[in-house]
Amino acid sequence: MKTALVTGGNRGLGLEIVKQLAANGFKVYLGARDEQEAQTIISQLKKQKYNVEFLKLDVLKTSDIRAAHDRIRANEGRLDVLVNNAGVFLETLGNPDDSSIFKVDPVIMLKSIETNTMGPVKLIQSFIEIMGDDARIINVSSGMGSLNEMEAYYPGYRMSKTALNAMTLMMARELGENASVKINAVCPGWCRTDMGGDNASRSVEEGVQGVIWLATCKNPPQGKFIRDKTEIPW
Ligand SMILES: NC(=O)c1ccc[n+]([C@@H]2O[C@H](COP(=O)([O-])OP(=O)(O)OC[C@H]3O[C@@H](n4cnc5c(N)ncnc54)[C@H](OP(=O)(O)O)[C@@H]3O)[C@@H](O)[C@H]2O)c1
Repeated sequence: MKTALVTGGNRGLGLEIVKQLAANGFKVYLGARDEQEAQTIISQLKKQKYNVEFLKLDVLKTSDIRAAHDRIRANEGRLDVLVNNAGVFLETLGNPDDSSIFKVDPVIMLKSIETNTMGPVKLIQSFIEIMGDDARIINVSSGMGSLNEMEAYYPGYRMSKTALNAMTLMMARELGENASVKINAVCPGWCRTDMGGDNASRSVEEGVQGVIWLATCKNPPQGKFIRDKTEIPW
């Protein structure tokens, strides 16, 4: 049985990724900060015969990342799929000071980068040594980080995802085209979650298509930016 870890697996896109990977036969570690909330979700998933376990994981805490690695290494010996999904959007919508790069509080930018970029970097640095033999790392990014589509507004979020994309490409280049670990970034599109809001154009089921495809397809690409099953420009 293949093993997957999904960060931020307790709600939104992360929870849908957990469900769909479990439905595809994976044993899934649901990474989350709040154990009580996550255990309630997991007990529901177990009723549907999904093989899901709670993993306490705040991506800002090195001690959580180390403990997560040690537990999966001890229990499974390896990790097949790592989905770096946990993310924050810290700019307040409608607040002109938050949305302008000329005015935004640099603390917002730094905090966005700590969670959205450095969280995945630390997770990958920790888990890469137990990944191989057709393993996949999937970084949940955003079109808002694409240099090709770069617009004004929401600088912390955008820069954190641009940096996540750059990190994905650098790691893919260092691993090489034929490596046993494939790493890619995914844009889910604008989805109806707490982050995306009720007016978003896509459901969570639509949003996770790219992640599930990269986790399950036969010959995944290396170092690409994917929306659904299609490559998009960085
Ligand atoms: N929704 C969209 O339209 C959209 C579009 C493009 C990209 N994305 C990306 O998709 C991913 C998921 O977004 P979403 O829409 O599902 O967001 P969401 O509903 O706001 O959920 C965010 C998830 O990230 C977790 N998280 C935040 N900080 C964390 C930390 N330090 N450690 C561990 N978990 C943490 C949250 O956990 P708590 O419950 O503990 O806060 C929650 O599980 C994000 O990376 C986001 O940038 C979303």
